[in-house]
Amino acid sequence: METKNHVWMNGNFVSNEEAKIDFLTTTLHYGFGVFEGIRCYNTIHGPAVFRLNDHVKRLIQSWHAMGMTLKYSPEEIETGIKELIQKNQMNECYIRPLIFLTGIAFDQYACQSNLAISCWVWKNFFGNIQEDEGIKVTISSIARPHVNAGLTKAKVTGNYYISLMARGLAKKQGYHDALMLDTQGLVSEGTGDNVFIVRNGIIYTPKRNGILEGITRASVIEIAKDLGYTVNEDDITREELYIADEVFATGTAAEIECISEIDGRKIGTGKIGPITKIIRTKFKEIVQGKDSKYHKWLAFVNEKIQTKNIMEVKA
Ligand SMILES: Cc1ncc(COP(=O)(O)O)c(C=O)c1O
Repeated sequence: METKNHVWMNGNFVSNEEAKIDFLTTTLHYGFGVFEGIRCYNTIHGPAVFRLNDHVKRLIQSWHAMGMTLKYSPEEIETGIKELIQKNQMNECYIRPLIFLTGIAFDQYACQSNLAISCWVWKNFFGNIQEDEGIKVTISSIARPHVNAGLTKAKVTGNYYISLMARGLAKKQGYHDALMLDTQGLVSEGTGDNVFIVRNGIIYTPKRNGILEGITRASVIEIAKDLGYTVNEDDITREELYIADEVFATGTAAEIECISEIDGRKIGTGKIGPITKIIRTKFKEIVQGKDSKYHKWLAFVNEKIQTKNIMEVKA
């Protein structure tokens, strides 16, 4: 993972080397922190952050769900992210805001809330996958925690040891990743991504109950509907994954990736299916700024350059 040299920390830019925190930090010891994963794409109109305000909203809502408040407004965070990208002179990157507590106490209210934002180049969430080949996954024996056992809509740092355990075990067994079931045994999501299946031309994805409400998931639902497909949020069983015509994963880091094999069973032809391909192609066009209908999802990093370029493209 290549990192650039500036981090936005509590409103100031510091170098990577200076962006250090004390060992006696509640977030490190108890996993009480929240974060986001956001992507900036190099569009034909210059660098743009995909669905920036939705990600910042989820960051603030995650902290709110933890019973905490943050002193930064959404606008301040959005500006901080854009300025960080400019300062690090990046056109394309993965952006990681993290809200963490400083001070050590078994009492979050006795600690201080902090926000730091970093960015780096993160190309392949699943490793080097040949275009259209898809990934091989297994269904993890580790369940997604029950909705009453924790927060699922919040991106809580401490939740992610479960994802890492499931992913690590799957990788040791030769898979690219794992899919997880909920405590009822229904399909939930991937370790860092949501899941969709296609059966007889209809697209299905698990209901929102116990999953992270992925921003890519919401985008894919909207894109698929705009393209004329029916999308159902429904219960999905393990067996329905095995017999689906197509299965794909969505996420900011994962983007849209075909799942071509599950527990040794080929899905469809064992390569990317037609509907996954159509949606993925449209998604790529959108994040490259090539479809003006979806410019609403792009926050251009250099507003002035963006306006000038769009005018030039239109002219
Ligand atoms: C557990 C989990 N599910 C789903 C997602 C996909 O969410 P998004 O599309 O907002 O990145 C992520 C990634 O943030 C995740 O960590």
